[in-house]
Amino acid sequence: MEKKKDRKSYRHMNGIEIIGLGKAVPETRLTNEDLRQYMDTSDEWIRSRTGIVSRHLCTGEESLTDLATEASRKAMEDAGIAPEEVGLVICATCTTDYMVPSVACAVQENIGIPGGVPAFDINAACSGFVYGLQLIYSLMNAEAACRSERKYALMIGGEQLSKMLDFSERSVSVLFGDGAAAAIVRGSSQKRFFCHTAAEGDRSALYAHTVGRNQIPAMEYKGKRIVSENPLQITEAYAAGIMKDGYLRMDGRKVFRFAVRVLAAEIDQMAEQSKVPAEEIDYIVCHQANSRIIDYVRKQKNLPEEKFFMNLQEYGNTSGASIPLALADMKDRGMLKPGTRIFCIGFGAGLTWGGCYLEF
Ligand code: COA
Repeated sequence: MEKKKDRKSYRHMNGIEIIGLGKAVPETRLTNEDLRQYMDTSDEWIRSRTGIVSRHLCTGEESLTDLATEASRKAMEDAGIAPEEVGLVICATCTTDYMVPSVACAVQENIGIPGGVPAFDINAACSGFVYGLQLIYSLMNAEAACRSERKYALMIGGEQLSKMLDFSERSVSVLFGDGAAAAIVRGSSQKRFFCHTAAEGDRSALYAHTVGRNQIPAMEYKGKRIVSENPLQITEAYAAGIMKDGYLRMDGRKVFRFAVRVLAAEIDQMAEQSKVPAEEIDYIVCHQANSRIIDYVRKQKNLPEEKFFMNLQEYGNTSGASIPLALADMKDRGMLKPGTRIFCIGFGAGLTWGGCYLEF
């Protein structure tokens, strides 16, 4: 991925392209076999229903911000750009380290991206990276986000899902992992880009409540209670409520049905928008949730296995990080050559979904 010098193309861009990728995963890797120490499960159950073999989980010494920073540094190095050239920072995450500031702002501080450019997080769960690319595409085309001398956007997908996992409950905790990956994106008059995003509000299929569900009366004004989340006021019963509500919960079968429906529809949508039939596209990079979801749609569409890149066996479901993590691994394996065309398709909590067509 060579950094190109033609600055004029930015003014007339109507596509975007990824010119650098980087990833960072926690050092600690737990196999399915390792999980047997903590719950009644088996490698056979997890592997046969999901394809997952291991996941990387943050320990107390690592945070989402650390992973996002490392992935961003590597992506910038891969693209050959300096912090001063970044004009926009977006992080797709649903497991932010702080309520404020955003992970994007924390990364901006860590890397030394000069002030004066927008930096913010988005939460579209596992579809976040696709949503983010659509935002970058729109903002760059509007020439609102980047100063002319800073034409690169840093798009991060990062999650520390272990913060939300209940390891005493086997049906959800075995599926997820932590990680981050980042892409350097720039406007392009040569590379085509198409995108589609959507959601259907559903709070019961896949959710984790925040502490906001357990509000404590702090003040009373005209008979109405103003509530607070001040941790100093937390009682034991309140803490138990937070513990219970804060975990990720899922109706697995409902999510499975949703995932196969929107994945199949989004492949058609991308083929229609890009005018590249699925049979001719080089790769389809699906959100890495479950190999059974991907296999189901692949067989339904009669597409070959080689078209669907998968690394979920190593990382599990890393939500917003999953698609850029797949792209970064593909780059490391030499699969992203000039001219390679890809559909990326995400789906997840919200319920959200979306697809994009990328040219390398
Ligand atoms: N190890 C062993 N047994 C487990 C288990 C685990 N980790 N988790 C659940 N089980 C047990 C259950 O207790 C249940 O046992 P019971 O029948 O005795 O009550 C049984 O396995 C359920 O099995 P099954 O009905 O075969 O589950 P499933 O085929 O619906 O598979 C999922 C479960 C979660 C793998 C599946 O629903 C799925 O993939 N859903 C989509 C999940 C997803 O991708 N979400 C993220 C989208 S972004």
